[in-house]
Amino acid sequence: MTVKNTTVIDVKHVFKTYFMDGGNSQQVLKDINFQVKSGEFVAIMGPSGSGKSTLMNILGCLDKPTSGTYILDGQDISAKTDMELAKVRGQTIGFVFQNFNLMMKRTIADNVSLPLIYQNIEEKERYKRAVKMLERVNLQGYQDRLPSQISGGMQQRVAIARALINNPAIIFADEPTGNLDSKTSDEIMDLFTDLNKQGITIVLVTHEDDVADFATRMIKISDGHKVYDGLRKEYSKEKETKC
Ligand SMILES: Nc1ncnc2c1ncn2[C@@H]1O[C@H](COP(=O)(O)OP(=O)(O)OP(=O)(O)O)[C@@H](O)[C@H]1O
Ligand SMILES: [Mg+2]
Repeated sequence: MTVKNTTVIDVKHVFKTYFMDGGNSQQVLKDINFQVKSGEFVAIMGPSGSGKSTLMNILGCLDKPTSGTYILDGQDISAKTDMELAKVRGQTIGFVFQNFNLMMKRTIADNVSLPLIYQNIEEKERYKRAVKMLERVNLQGYQDRLPSQISGGMQQRVAIARALINNPAIIFADEPTGNLDSKTSDEIMDLFTDLNKQGITIVLVTHEDDVADFATRMIKISDGHKVYDGLRKEYSKEKETKC
């Protein structure tokens, strides 16, 4: 899938409030605005509880803003139904989670090819494509194992292969290295860097400075506000301001 617009992500005045049982509510995102161009590599940072995953879930079309607009590749996401969102996810986006989210009782090939089931692609072809995608993440030969039979770093590469199987234009990753040691984390970040060089837009959340250093741009969130948006290498705490 190739995106049609140079600006692939356009977030305008996005607010997110969670409404809880008993009438309580919490405003988590407060007037977030930014754009991402095709081919960028963005790290989203910020303290625990600042709203990073909330923002990521909106960007990845897993949730919708309470108000404001989110345009993904020219399509207004805020106006779509859940069915339509699922379609956009399948066509444009790959999502990678901190805890890999693999089906532990299914083979690696089954895990990687899962998104193809929704496209009615037959089993033999799904397997073939999974094997090919595993080569892309350096896991050739592992297709028939179970996730429990490979390491954590390899499990995350399986999750990345699954995210890639629909040929997405953008990969969103929420703390993809959060459960990995620093060497394995670097390997995963090298893989994201390669994918970015191949033209895939990458937006990832991280707590770690070393991980953010792989990105060119950094967006920092603090208490639901965007407080920095610029080159990663030019970031300093003194430059933080509501922006
Ligand atoms: N589904 C939900 N319902 C109610 N409140 C929520 C929900 N999800 C998140 N929150 C609250 O929103 C705030 C921001 O949460 P979020 O998960 O976005 O933070 P985060 O920046 O990703 O934190 P971390 O770095 O710990 O992952 C927190 O106070 C959290 O308790
Ligand atoms: Mg989070």
